[in-house]
Amino acid sequence: MSKLKNKWALVTGASRGVGKQVALGLAEQGCRLVLHARKLSNLEPLLQELRGRGVEARGVAAELSDGAQVDAMIDGVLRDLGGVDILYNNAAIQAPWREAHSTPSEDYRRVFEINVIALVRLCDRFLPIMVERGWGRIVNVTSGIENIRELLPYSMSKAAVDRYVRDVTPSLEGTGVIMSLVDPGWLRTDLGGDKAPNAVETCMPGALVPVLLEDGAPSGRFYRAQDYRTDLAR
Ligand SMILES: NC(=O)c1ccc[n+]([C@@H]2O[C@H](COP(=O)([O-])OP(=O)(O)OC[C@H]3O[C@@H](n4cnc5c(N)ncnc54)[C@H](OP(=O)(O)O)[C@@H]3O)[C@@H](O)[C@H]2O)c1
Repeated sequence: MSKLKNKWALVTGASRGVGKQVALGLAEQGCRLVLHARKLSNLEPLLQELRGRGVEARGVAAELSDGAQVDAMIDGVLRDLGGVDILYNNAAIQAPWREAHSTPSEDYRRVFEINVIALVRLCDRFLPIMVERGWGRIVNVTSGIENIRELLPYSMSKAAVDRYVRDVTPSLEGTGVIMSLVDPGWLRTDLGGDKAPNAVETCMPGALVPVLLEDGAPSGRFYRAQDYRTDLAR
């Protein structure tokens, strides 16, 4: 039996792309799911599919650039479930492509609100409960993006996520809570675009590796989902 059987997992940005793959993978592991998107209607097809397979799954909605909506969503989950065992911080946006040195401050602000501040808020509210219970897995999705001046708000937001994990994780040693980073690879999704070399499904099974870590495994590690592909000749 999977060690994740009946664990409650919250996946942000689960309506499509990487988040949908992660939700399907966690369902296969026997998790119960709280799936997030901006609108409940965006989640309906996946919720129907999962419930059809007997998976306990519910949807929550929040615009992640709006702190009040983020807190209201978290309040609802805490009221209903008391906490979650797995927090998969997947949702993020790309910034518009800009000519070098012409990026408006508003791009930085919006990307940081969604990709960094909401992610930190979710960690801040769920992490202490995991520590109190002595078990938890938090996965923060990052990116391998490098040297693209035209997308700096996005790459800087992911650098901030990396730094957050690096600075928080030493304090998690011995708590039973493991926080990790995962880069799903460059994928054909709405965010990754149609020129990406990899199908979205190739983020699996690697994207689940940091959730499936054994108790006592180190926190703060960076996982490349593409390293775990099973469809490539080695
Ligand atoms: N695709 C790639 O090549 C690639 C490469 C490296 C890292 N990543 C990372 O992988 C993660 C998933 O990316 P993806 O390619 O799967 O993206 P995607 O296909 O664009 O999906 C984004 C998800 O986030 C949600 N979302 C978007 N804007 C939101 C907002 N303002 N508030 C709340 N939710 C919002 C969307 O939900 P709704 O629109 O339904 O509300 C959707 O479920 C991100 O962290 C991304 O940075 C992706």
